[in-house]
Amino acid sequence: MPFVVKSKPLLVYLCRMAEDLTIITGNKSEVYQSLIPQITGLLDGEPDLVANLANVSAALKEQFGWLWVGFYRVKPDPKNGEVSELVLGPFQGPVACTRIKKGRGVCGTAWQNAETLIVPDVEKFPGHIACSSLSRSEIVVPLVKNGEVVAVLDVDAAEPDQFDETDKKYLEQIVELLIF
Ligand code: SME
Repeated sequence: MPFVVKSKPLLVYLCRMAEDLTIITGNKSEVYQSLIPQITGLLDGEPDLVANLANVSAALKEQFGWLWVGFYRVKPDPKNGEVSELVLGPFQGPVACTRIKKGRGVCGTAWQNAETLIVPDVEKFPGHIACSSLSRSEIVVPLVKNGEVVAVLDVDAAEPDQFDETDKKYLEQIVELLIF
């Protein structure tokens, strides 16, 4: 008779506990193609948005080692109820700015335009908000639900020119997995 834990066969129990990522080396597309099914698995059956944003941040940080990976969510201003700012959500990396107004910085601009923004050199982006002085390049990808931006994925790298159309393509696929 197989060893059981709480009435489940041990193998099933262990598989449910195993949340390790398989980290691979390779070109960017290969890395994303390995990561996306794993992220799909991590999100499978979990309806809690914060849990999912946290695990996606961790998976991206672990695979790519970027300086900062995280989410800002669109929230009403507590003072007047206006939907005019982003509020810091789950992230991995150094502490960050808590609130960003619509149209401000890279994040607020990506929200306003409802499109992905790649910034090869943050020092050349007018209005860039330097949460960390170590950031050199950035990509921000909006999460759009029913035609409205509900959050943005923000990724910062410590080196210039780290993000391109390949990142845009795959990060847009990853944020799609979070919309349900
Ligand atoms: N640089 C961003 C602010 C967020 S931090 O990078 C985490 C911006 O300009 O919107």
